[in-house]
Amino acid sequence: MSTPSSSDTPSGRGGIGGVSGADETHALGERKTQHLEICLDDTRYRVETGSSGLEHLGFLHQALPEISDDEIDTGIEFLGKQIRLPLFISSMTGGSEAGYRANKELVRAAQATGIPVGMGSIRILFRKPEVFDHFAFKKIAPDVPIFANLGGVQTREMKHREVFELLKKLEVDGVAIHLNPGQELFQSDGDRDFRGVFDGIRRFVDGCPVPVIVKETGFGIEPRLVRRLIDAGVSYIDLAGSGGTNWVQVEAYRATPSERAAAEEFQNWGYGTGVLLGALEGQPEAEGRILASGGLRTGLDMAKSLAVGAHAAGYALPFIRAVHEGGAEQAVALVERYEKVLRTAMLLTGSRTVADLRSGRMVRTPAFRESVRTLRSAIAEEGHRGTTPGT
Ligand SMILES: Cc1cc2nc3c(=O)[nH]c(=O)nc-3n(C[C@H](O)[C@H](O)[C@H](O)COP(=O)(O)O)c2cc1C
Repeated sequence: MSTPSSSDTPSGRGGIGGVSGADETHALGERKTQHLEICLDDTRYRVETGSSGLEHLGFLHQALPEISDDEIDTGIEFLGKQIRLPLFISSMTGGSEAGYRANKELVRAAQATGIPVGMGSIRILFRKPEVFDHFAFKKIAPDVPIFANLGGVQTREMKHREVFELLKKLEVDGVAIHLNPGQELFQSDGDRDFRGVFDGIRRFVDGCPVPVIVKETGFGIEPRLVRRLIDAGVSYIDLAGSGGTNWVQVEAYRATPSERAAAEEFQNWGYGTGVLLGALEGQPEAEGRILASGGLRTGLDMAKSLAVGAHAAGYALPFIRAVHEGGAEQAVALVERYEKVLRTAMLLTGSRTVADLRSGRMVRTPAFRESVRTLRSAIAEEGHRGTTPGT
């Protein structure tokens, strides 16, 4: 991937994407279009940074697995439905024409392959209800879980009753609440005040008619916060750790040169997804509730995530790039590739089910063990100092 030139901005605009003077709703749609443009053109923009840490994990190969390929069962239960693969398409888009087209292809691919799919933030629907169709896909994908998406800050600010009504109208099976303070701080009109968001989420979960997922967007959620969110009634935590799409870098391409220079310093911010999974291993309250995403790029990344405790694995950037290049068919081909790799890894480790894959037949490098130990002790130390609010 080439390094983009410092003068690259989406659509050749300078500064904050050239949206000044536009009304807020228009700016929101415009921003979504630019995000897509930046994420899709890897010859001009470098949006992936760091490492998930999953490369430090390996499987112990079984030369005599004593199982037959047709015995392998990759199915799991997720958001109240039985699904064929422990794999989902992460929340991405909607609210712009390009986003609508992409969503349609993603949803078609999800229905064809039997996997869950997330929509991008539905915040825009409260200002521009005419884009309802960008997020309502039950008719195209009646058999797979579809989940809506909303920002954590909105759970503090919006009338929950109105959101719940909308979720029912959209006929979604769940809703993902995203946490993205890093991204917001690099948006000229982004949120700056994150007080009271945890309480907003707790109140939201209380009345929400569908299960709630809380996700990060590429910097990860550490184990102590995972526990607090589970205690607050959240159904799944999607770690969305680092090693993949870095949203500070994405926003930086819409920002001023000095902000872009500041963003450079956040190339390695956050917790690698693999290291977070390692730090959560063996925690009974996390069992069946942890989703691994952020920087997963290969089929083996999914297999390794499941082996160290994830319930399912999510991918964002690989799917949006696939539909951009070849529509739903290319996304289906990607799912087929991931499935082939998962099934092969299961057979070669003697695992009939996803639960069997978690039998401890893993190799962890000393570097991985050290990263997990360091994270666990940093969190324990913080707990002793009482610096984490509400714990
Ligand atoms: C084009 C694009 C749009 C996204 N929009 C949203 C969004 O609206 N809400 C959200 O929670 N996450 C959004 N994300 C973040 C992803 O869900 C995911 O957490 C993040 O990109 C890290 O995963 P990855 O490394 O597989 O890309 C978006 C990602 C992409 C690539």
